Amino acid sequence: MDLTSLWDYDGSWIRDTIDLAIRIKKEPKAYRGLLSSKVMSMLFMKPSTRTRVSFEAGMGGLGGQAIYLDFRTTNFTKGALKDEIRCLERYCDIIMARVMKNEQITAISEASKVPVINGLCDMFHPCQALADMQTVYEKLRRWDFRLAYVGDGNNVANSLILACSKLGAEISVSTPIGYEPDGDVVEFGLKNGLRLEKEPKAACRGADIVYTDTWVSMGEEQEKDKKLRAFKGYQVDENLLGDAYFMHCLPAIRGQEVTSGVLDSDSSIVYDQAENRMWAQMAVILKLLGKDKQ
Ligand code: CP
Ligand code: NVA
Repeated sequence: MDLTSLWDYDGSWIRDTIDLAIRIKKEPKAYRGLLSSKVMSMLFMKPSTRTRVSFEAGMGGLGGQAIYLDFRTTNFTKGALKDEIRCLERYCDIIMARVMKNEQITAISEASKVPVINGLCDMFHPCQALADMQTVYEKLRRWDFRLAYVGDGNNVANSLILACSKLGAEISVSTPIGYEPDGDVVEFGLKNGLRLEKEPKAACRGADIVYTDTWVSMGEEQEKDKKLRAFKGYQVDENLLGDAYFMHCLPAIRGQEVTSGVLDSDSSIVYDQAENRMWAQMAVILKLLGKDKQ
């Protein structure tokens, strides 16, 4: 079993994973030795703060070990991806990879006999969405919430749409023309509680949560000027936020997609999200390794 995206999982798997994450968070000591002598390889083709540290701390917290592999200082740049993966699986029990393209995570999953977790690609960020759903549930204690996503229809937006749609929550999305989420994700979402809104204000009306992400994702730096022009009017400020909670996967560019006032306000739950990356991922790892029932 892999976690390459949330396409492969239903609402009950997501709820069950979050339930486990909340139990681990409440009593981490009870889970401490479960992954003793288990090893995770973590391959990074892009930079990371939260993903790297939350996976490494999470593996440690379960008694296992995580090995950080920087794409540029390994032979992933030289050898075929599948050859390198077939060697990694001889040393480790699970692989987490942050890659440039979704096809690379698919190729890793096909080559690997051990479970593979997507730590972000151009299309999806499933671990982020799981941690986010945990955070929303902890705040609201219900699944029939309304989340508004404003900004770029990117990897984070795609995963949030899949997560909310599968959980039976409502999600409204407002992006500039040309920056909509993935077509297949939108098609699935529209049948399961997704609303697309032209105006950010319309998307945020009545929302329990307003969520945004950076306008310039990793690897898109050459498009920065064009994107900054396109996203004018999509900044989350106090007025757009209203009474809702504010969420952001981080890193945030203060003054671009969100004002500092919103990010620092009492409505902001961004650091809870960041913390929950660790608990949610610990639950995912235990499930993928068949250790969740022990
Ligand atoms: N949210 C997130 O994935 O952060 P990093 O890019 O720092 O890992
Ligand atoms: N959309 C952002 C998310 C970072 C966690 C990116 O891909 O850079």
